[in-house]
Amino acid sequence: MSQPLRGVIVGTGSYAPAKVLSNADLMKLVDTSDEWIVQRTGVRERRMVGEGETPSTMGIAAAKNALENAGMTADQIDLIICGTISPDMIFPATACLIQHGLGLSEIPAFDISAACSGFIYALTVADGMIASGRYRNVLVVASDALTRFTDYSDRGSCILFGDGAGAVVLQPTDDPQRGLKYSHIGARGSGWDFIHVPAGGSRIVASAQTVAAKQHYIQMRGREVYKFAVQQMVDLMAEGMAQCGLKVEDIDLVVPHQVNQRIIESATSKLEFPLEKVFVNIDRYGNTSGASIPLALDQAHRAGRTPPGATLLLVAFGAGLTWGASVLKM
Ligand code: COA
Repeated sequence: MSQPLRGVIVGTGSYAPAKVLSNADLMKLVDTSDEWIVQRTGVRERRMVGEGETPSTMGIAAAKNALENAGMTADQIDLIICGTISPDMIFPATACLIQHGLGLSEIPAFDISAACSGFIYALTVADGMIASGRYRNVLVVASDALTRFTDYSDRGSCILFGDGAGAVVLQPTDDPQRGLKYSHIGARGSGWDFIHVPAGGSRIVASAQTVAAKQHYIQMRGREVYKFAVQQMVDLMAEGMAQCGLKVEDIDLVVPHQVNQRIIESATSKLEFPLEKVFVNIDRYGNTSGASIPLALDQAHRAGRTPPGATLLLVAFGAGLTWGASVLKM
C-alpha cells in the first residue's frame, strides 16, 4: 500500500523592506533607550514598509524568491494561501492580489487570519490540501506590515514590530522520511483582547472619532502576553517532540516566532536546547507577526542550516489567541 501524501518544502523565499527603523529612531519618538529595548526584547532595528509597499507587494516578492529557489515557475502553482492580519484591504483577500501579481488566474487563493501563528496555520491547511490529493504545488505566503497599525506614541508596543514577508512552495511526497511530520494548531478566543486592533472592522467602524481615540492601532497587554507566550512555547515544543518521538538531540534547528529574545531564550533553555540550535534574527527584524517564521526559515535555508534530511521544529503563538507548532524534515 502506498504511503499517505504529505507536504514537503521544496523552496523558500522572503522579502524585507529596505527602510530601517532603529532603536535610535524610536528614541526620537518615545521615552525609551537602546539599552532598555535590547535588554527586554532583543530588537536593535526593524524594517518598515515604504511608499507603495504592502503585504501583497512583499508577499509577491517573497513568492517569486521561493519559486526561484524551488526551480519552478508561477504557472505551476495550483493553490495560494496567505497568512496575514494586516491585509492590503479588509477585502479582497491579499492572496488574490498576490495571485494577480504573479500573473496567475483562476487558481484558488485565500487568506488566513491567525496573527503570528499565521504561517503555521497556513502550512497546516496547505498540508491537508496536499494530503487530500487535490493540490500539488501550493504556495504558502505570510506577509505583515504591523508598523501600519503601530502607535508610535506607545512605548510599550512600538518597540516590537517590524514588516516583512516569507513564502514556501509545498509539494506532495510519499517518502515517510520527508515532509511535514506533525502539525498542531489551536486557539483560545477568550483571550481576543490580549492583542487587538479595536476599530476599522464592522464592530467599530472607522471614523474621525476612532482615529482621534487611536483605536486603529494595536492595543496590547504586554505582561500577560509575555506570560502566556513563555509557557505556551515550552508546551508546544515539548508536545511536538513527544508526538514525533524526538529528543532535543534529534532536532537540527528550532525556528521560533521571533516574538522577543527573552521569551525565545527562556522557553528554549527550559527544554535545554543549545543556543546554536535556535535560529534568531529578531535583533534585525523585530516581530514581523506571521512573516517571522518563514522569513527566518528562508534565511536559515540560504545559510545552509536546513540541509536535506534536517529536522526542524517551528513554533508560534499570537493574537487570537492562536498557536501552532510543526515538525518537518527537509
Ligand atoms: N522603554 C522604557 N521603558 C519602558 C518601555 C520602553 N520602550 N516600555 C515600557 N517601559 C516601562 C513601563 O512603563 C514600566 O515602567 P514602570 O515600572 O515605571 O511602570 C516598566 O518599563 C516595566 O513595564 P512592563 O510592561 O512590565 O515591561 P516588560 O518587562 O513586561 O516588557 C514588553 C514589556 C512589551 C517588552 C514585554 O511585556 C513583552 O515583550 N511582552 C510580549 C509582547 C509580545 O510579544 N507581543 C506580541 C505577541 S505575538
